[in-house]
Amino acid sequence: MAENFDVKLDAKTYIPDPSYLKNSALGDYKKAYEKFLSDPEGFWAEKAQELDWMKPWDTVRDWNWPNARWFCGGKINLSANCLDRHVKNGRRNKLAIIWKGERGKEEIYTYRQLYRAVMRFANALKKLGVQKGDRICLYMPLVPEHVIAMLACARIGAVHSIVYAGFGAEALHARIRDAEAKIVITADVGVRRGKFIPLRSIVDDAVKNSPSVEKIIVLSRERCPVELYSEMEVDYYAIQEGVSDECPPEEMDSEDPLFILYTSGTTGQPKGIVHTNGGYMVGAHYTCKYIFDMKENDVHWCTADPGWITGHSYIVYGPLSVGATVLITETTPDYPDPGIWWSLIEEFGVTIFYTAPTAIRMFMRIGEQWPDKYNLSSLRIIGSVGEPLNPEAFEWYYRVIGRNKCPVLDTWWQTETGMHMITTPLGEPMKPGFAGVPIPGVVADVVDKQGNPVPPRQGGLLVIKEPWPSMMRTVYKNEERYQQYWNQIKNWYTVGDLAVKDEDGYIMVLGRSDDIIIVSGHNLGTAEVESALVAHEAVAEAAVIGVPDDLKGQAVKAFVILRQGYEPSQKLVSELTYHVRMTIGPIAMPSGIEFMDKLPKTRSGKIMRRVLKAKEMGVDPGDISTLEE
Ligand code: WTA
Repeated sequence: MAENFDVKLDAKTYIPDPSYLKNSALGDYKKAYEKFLSDPEGFWAEKAQELDWMKPWDTVRDWNWPNARWFCGGKINLSANCLDRHVKNGRRNKLAIIWKGERGKEEIYTYRQLYRAVMRFANALKKLGVQKGDRICLYMPLVPEHVIAMLACARIGAVHSIVYAGFGAEALHARIRDAEAKIVITADVGVRRGKFIPLRSIVDDAVKNSPSVEKIIVLSRERCPVELYSEMEVDYYAIQEGVSDECPPEEMDSEDPLFILYTSGTTGQPKGIVHTNGGYMVGAHYTCKYIFDMKENDVHWCTADPGWITGHSYIVYGPLSVGATVLITETTPDYPDPGIWWSLIEEFGVTIFYTAPTAIRMFMRIGEQWPDKYNLSSLRIIGSVGEPLNPEAFEWYYRVIGRNKCPVLDTWWQTETGMHMITTPLGEPMKPGFAGVPIPGVVADVVDKQGNPVPPRQGGLLVIKEPWPSMMRTVYKNEERYQQYWNQIKNWYTVGDLAVKDEDGYIMVLGRSDDIIIVSGHNLGTAEVESALVAHEAVAEAAVIGVPDDLKGQAVKAFVILRQGYEPSQKLVSELTYHVRMTIGPIAMPSGIEFMDKLPKTRSGKIMRRVLKAKEMGVDPGDISTLEE
C-alpha cells in the first residue's frame, strides 16, 4: 500500500513555553527515550519501583511471543497503591475525589474517607461470597461509589468488568454473559440532563438468562432504603451495616487479572480486553506522572466515564496512585448551558484537563463566548484522546482553552494498550494533526503490510514492536483473537490504525484501517479527508466513507454537520468539494456531500463510519449495541 499513499504534512509547529520543562518529571524527552532504549528492562524496573510492592518481582519481563508477563513473581495491590500509601504518608486529609452532580449537588472524599469506604465495601463483597478471581459487573452512574466499587474489587482481587451506564439491556446482557459475572453492582437511577435513567430496571432485564449472576447490589442515590424487587437484589448500604472498615489488601500476583473491559467497537464485535495487576498499575502510574506530569497538588479532570479505558487509567488508577485530586462529574457538557464545564474548571481550579475531540468540536461549533466567560488560568496541561484531533480543533483548543500557553497532549492509545503510547511530551514542539512521538517505553513505527518501514510522508499501518507492561494479556475466553493482534505483521502488535510519519518521526493517525478508502488505487485515511473538511469555516464535524464507484473502485462520500450560522446549499456542496480538492488533491474530492444534524457515534464519542456505510449501501449495519441513541 505504501507506493500510492502520500499524505500532505505541512503542519504549523507550536513551540511550547520552556517554563513547562523546568519541573517536569520526564525532563528532556530525547534523553529519556535514549535511556529507555539502552536498557528497556532497567527503565521499566525503575518506574515500577516507584510503587508499593508486597513482594518484589524476580523477572522484569518474560517475553514469549505473543504472550508477555511483567514483574513476574511480584505481589501488588492497586487499591493499596491508590489509598493506603497516601493515608500512611501524611496525606490522609488530602482531597481524593470531588464529585459534582446536577442541581448543584456536590460531595468530597479525602484519601482517608475513600480508604475507609473502600474497605467497608470490600468487606461487604466478601460477605456476599465474592472471592479472588470472581467477575463483578459494574453498571453505575458517575458517582463516587463507582470508584469505591472499582477499588474494592481491586482490594480483594475480584475482577471488575465495567459497562458504561448508557448501554441498553441487550449490550449489558451480552457483557454479563461473556464475563460470567457473579455480582452486578448498579444504582437506582442515573441522572442526565435533568432526567432520571432507571438503571436498576435495565439491569433486571439484562440479568434474565444470565445464570452466573447471584446478586445485584443496588445503590440508592438518596441513601434511602431500597425497595427490593427480587431475592437477588441487595441494598448497597444494608450490606455494609455492621461490617468492619478494616480490610487488608489481598496480595495479588503481578499477572493476576485486574479487569476485563469490552472495547467500544466502532468496527465490529466488542472484545473483552483483559488487563493484569502489576503491569497495568505501572503503565497507568508512569504515564500520569511522566506524561501528564501529574503531581500531588494537581486537580485532574478527565471527562471520560469509568466505563471506558480512559476512565480506568486516568480517572481512577493513575491519578489516585499519584495522589492527585480527581474531579468527577455526572454533568453533560451543554446542560444546563454550554458554560458548565468551564465553570467547573474555574470553580475547582482544575490544572490538568483531559477530554475528547468530539467535545472540542462541539464547543467550537457553539462558539468561544462560553469558555470566554470563565477564568481558566488554573489550567496547566490540556489533553485529548479518542480520535484524531484535527488541526482546526487543536488550534481552537490551544488558543481558547489553553490560552496560547498550555501544552496540548494529543494522546494516542487504546483499550488494549492500557496507557498512553504516542503523544507530544512536554517541552517538545507541537504539530497540530500529529499525535506526536512514541513515549519513552514504547517502540512504534509505520510499516507496510509486509512489515517494511515506509518512508516519511507515506501512509502505512501503525505497529508497536516491543511489549510494554500495560499491554492487554488476552481477549477474555478468546486467546486466538488476542494472537491476531500479534501475527498480522511479522511479530509486531498491529493496532488497526493507519498512520503516517514525518521526517522528525512525528506520527499522524489517519483513522482505522478498516475504514480505509481506496480511490483509483490510492489509499485515503478517513481522518485526512475529514480534517480537510473541518478546516473549512462552515464545517463543525465531518465523517467520510468509501462508496462503490464503477470507474475509481471507490469514491469518497462525506457527511457534514455545519457550524452555527451556515445553511445547507448546493453552492456550499461545490465549495466544500473544491476545498477538499485544493487541500488534499483531486483523488479525495467527495463525489457526494450530505448535510446532517448528527453523526452516528459510539457512546464514547467516536464516529461509527460503518453505520453510515451500511445505511448508504442499504445493508444491515451489524452489531450496533455501542451506538449512542
Ligand atoms: C482511536 C481510547 C487518533 C484510534 C483510549 C485507536 C485515536 C482507538 C487517538 C482506540 C488519538 C484514540 N488520535 N486516534 N489521539 N486516541 N484513537 O480503545 O483509532 O476506545 O485505535 O481507546 O481510538 O479506542 P479505545
